Amino acid sequence: MEYKWLKGTEFAVSAVALGTWAIGGSHWDSYDEFGAVKSIETALDNGVNFIDTAPVYGDGHSEELVGKAIRGKRDNVFLATKCGLDIYSRKYERNLSPSYIEIDLEQSLKRLGTDYIDLYQCHWPDPKTPIAETMEALKRFQKEGKIRHIGVSNFSEAQLAEAIASGSLFSLQTHYSLLERSPEKSLLPLCREQNICVLSYGPLGAGMLTGKYAERPSFSRGDARSFFYRFFKPQHWPQVRRLVDGLMTIAEARGVKPGTIAISWVLAQDDVTSALVGARSPEQVLENISHVPVSLDNEEMALLDRLSREVFAQQEPPTSSY
Ligand SMILES: NC(=O)c1ccc[n+]([C@@H]2O[C@H](COP(=O)([O-])OP(=O)(O)OC[C@H]3O[C@@H](n4cnc5c(N)ncnc54)[C@H](OP(=O)(O)O)[C@@H]3O)[C@@H](O)[C@H]2O)c1
Repeated sequence: MEYKWLKGTEFAVSAVALGTWAIGGSHWDSYDEFGAVKSIETALDNGVNFIDTAPVYGDGHSEELVGKAIRGKRDNVFLATKCGLDIYSRKYERNLSPSYIEIDLEQSLKRLGTDYIDLYQCHWPDPKTPIAETMEALKRFQKEGKIRHIGVSNFSEAQLAEAIASGSLFSLQTHYSLLERSPEKSLLPLCREQNICVLSYGPLGAGMLTGKYAERPSFSRGDARSFFYRFFKPQHWPQVRRLVDGLMTIAEARGVKPGTIAISWVLAQDDVTSALVGARSPEQVLENISHVPVSLDNEEMALLDRLSREVFAQQEPPTSSY
């Protein structure tokens, strides 16, 4: 496992972080609680020291499982969670008002069984709350010692610039993979210029880039993959298939799995601090961390770059959203 020092901290985090959205049990089909618990334990036992969760993942369940798994190991884990999606009304409305995020934070601390969170991130921008107000509240939590670093997620360039202007912004979490390159346009350059850590989510294309789908998969309406990630749409399948074929060719030559190459591509991008990789079983966790990162040569990078750019050549805007 490769580790990276986080700017301005005394912590070196694993380049592969465990993402725990699917582990929460809602929004993704066929939930296996035993597999979820074992996935977190396996990650921690095999060098992953960075876990990303959120209240909305299983309406608190993901945080509860993470909390149990890190008991007795708290100081060795860089723990990231999020705020600002209202799970208590079950409407999942965006709410980054100081009064709401104060409640959200107290509930997360309880579920995670800890008195501090290493990275506390605004999950989605909230058009109803000025960013400066949210940032002031987050800085207060930081002073109180309840959170160590402040992050945002799914922010546009303008929103990110506003958050940076309010001071103390540590990281941006964004959808970035071979299947989603739009952050390259302005988000990544801004993070580079402002020294903001970049956490890339969805590096396996929610499973698509592991090469396990011979045909385009379809999911039930309640499964997040049916609405959240645009690359699952039928019109993108031919280009996605060609990209997966390219990954498989490189993987075969290297004696590794296609997903290993997809994660390695993300980690090869200078701007990326960590790849947040989801897994639903210990086997998936082990596959996702062993051999990562493979150092890809220029020819392999050029092939992946070309195939990846073909997926959204028509420049359809990203649709992943709550
Ligand atoms: N900030 C945000 O708004 C946001 C949004 C999305 C994600 N995230 C974060 O980023 C993390 C990762 O994103 P993600 O989970 O959506 O996508 P991902 O990491 O690209 O894909 C994870 C999914 O791929 C499948 N998979 C994983 N390893 C595999 C393997 N070795 N072989 C075959 N299949 C495998 C699993 O689903 P199946 O077994 O069901 O195929 C797993 O749940 C999330 O867990 C979350 O922490 C944040």
